[in-house]
Amino acid sequence: MCGIVGYVGPSPSLAVLVAGLTRLEYRGYDSAGVAVLGPDGLGVAKKAGKLGALVDLLDHSPLADGTTGIAHTRWATHGAPTDENAHPHLADSGKLALIHNGIIENYLELKHEVEALGAVCLSETDSEVAAHLVAHHYSESGNLTDALQKTVNRLDGAFTLLVTHQDHPGVVVGARRNSPLVVGVGDGENFLASDVAAFVEHTKTALSIDQDQIVTITPDGVTVQSFSGEPVTPTPFTVDWDASAAEKGGWSSFMAKEISEQPEAVENTLRGRIHPDGSVDLGDVNTLIAEHDTKRVVFLACGTAAYAAMIGAYAVEAWAKIPATVELSHEFRYREPYLDGHTLVVSVSQSGETMDTLMAVKYAIEKQATTVSVCNTQGATIARESAGVLYTHAGPEVAVASTKAFTSQIAAIYLLALGLAQKTGTLSVAERQEIAADLLQAPTHMATMLQSDERIQEMAHWMADTRSVLYLGRHVGYPIALEGALKLKELAYIHAEGFAAGELKHGPIALIEPGQIVFVVVPSPREAPTLHNKVVSNIQEIRARGARVIAIAEKGDAAVLPFADEVIAMPPASSWVAPLLAVIPLHYFGMELASAKGLDIDQPRNLAKSVTVE
Ligand code: M6R
Repeated sequence: MCGIVGYVGPSPSLAVLVAGLTRLEYRGYDSAGVAVLGPDGLGVAKKAGKLGALVDLLDHSPLADGTTGIAHTRWATHGAPTDENAHPHLADSGKLALIHNGIIENYLELKHEVEALGAVCLSETDSEVAAHLVAHHYSESGNLTDALQKTVNRLDGAFTLLVTHQDHPGVVVGARRNSPLVVGVGDGENFLASDVAAFVEHTKTALSIDQDQIVTITPDGVTVQSFSGEPVTPTPFTVDWDASAAEKGGWSSFMAKEISEQPEAVENTLRGRIHPDGSVDLGDVNTLIAEHDTKRVVFLACGTAAYAAMIGAYAVEAWAKIPATVELSHEFRYREPYLDGHTLVVSVSQSGETMDTLMAVKYAIEKQATTVSVCNTQGATIARESAGVLYTHAGPEVAVASTKAFTSQIAAIYLLALGLAQKTGTLSVAERQEIAADLLQAPTHMATMLQSDERIQEMAHWMADTRSVLYLGRHVGYPIALEGALKLKELAYIHAEGFAAGELKHGPIALIEPGQIVFVVVPSPREAPTLHNKVVSNIQEIRARGARVIAIAEKGDAAVLPFADEVIAMPPASSWVAPLLAVIPLHYFGMELASAKGLDIDQPRNLAKSVTVE
């Protein structure tokens, strides 16, 4: 969950590192720190709180700058977010600094070992133990890369580590297992980071560091080896977005910007992938589908990505007539699920680094399933581990609350479902063309929904003191209800639940009391008249018990009007496009309610953008 960055080159490193941390702060924001190799040795500054607290510290107590350094923004696992537990951690009498992202599971055993060797641990973290272990091995050889190699071979768990030592100016060594690490290759300067966002303003040339590899950077070189010491040639790639894409650009928050980017994100995800006959071009994934005898599709995902997968699973079953289920990655891998060579496992992850999903994908690979990843981040671990990848082209998503990634995941999975239907022949050409034409219309309809913000803002202000909000939906509206509720919980810290509307009478209706706010996602009366009638009945049932109903319904849906306190209108669209529209006001609502309560929109408490620990 933490963000890490390392730099070697001609520029004063403090500015480069702090700018890098600014772009990585979404990964964790409970403390931050930096170590710079200056003329008088290694200088360290670290501070609990958001990055601003570190910047203030550096303003008041400047560090002697240098051209080699590492920096870290933390999401606490072991030890509270305090100054002492913030990274970097020092060892070798303050000459060696280390930063870590992940969890070292056997740290207690290693702690006893390094303490027996004379190390004094000043923090409660697992990470500091690794610093002392590197220092111990360094004392044997005087070689930092060797010392890190010996250390990582002793560690259990997930980690990306960066180390610098004052006896080696111009050198930063990194290693990774189950946590992300990429190299930015510059001209006379090189970078290491959790994510390309940290260095994209300096270079778009990047190298992927694979599982269990160690990388050493100097201003003029990058060398990579495996944990066993074998030389490795890393895979280069070019970052396909500009630094400006990860900037707020005048918006009040990244979330506001990213909500507004949803039509474009969906358009970019669909672009060039749909042929006039309704067939789809999914690159290698087409071949993979063609060669695989798919008898079942299992989606793996967490949080918002799982809701996108639920909608996708409905489409796979409806169009390709292949049984499809969605599994929360963290539940899946610990319940001995049955998988075989006929199972297509589709992981859905914006970051491509979510540990639970990564581990579930690895489990699926072990069980001979064929894996496809739906991912938004180039070169991410899950994408690389999977047999095929279908990238969403949403651009960098910085706000912790996922928005444009969600809608582009739905679009990408629809393409996958069409690809599967192409193979099974379960849709006629005319049916495929109709679905494709509907999807291509989606961005235009989504742009209309962006206009709902003002009304939602007013509603959020009068609801700022509310203690509970319920969300109801049916069919593809059900995952949208879940998504609306998740957004309210994570952003506004308000109790919220999403329900399948049909489930109401099986228990949840007992929650309805006068004044209870309920958002209802209403199916189209034209497209899904039966479901529409049932949801209108649900609305009447809750209204009769005093609920305040906010309906998200198709424009002109007269049946809803008499029973809803508020109606947010959607342009007429197909049932498959409707969730892409209905979710936009719910994204706004979470954001506006958080804003009405004066909360931090982009960095909600206790959360981090990529959950890279289990
Ligand atoms: O990077 P991923 O898509 O794998 O992340 C999955 C979830 O952690 C993520 O969607 C989370 O639920 C968001 N904060 C929701 O807004």
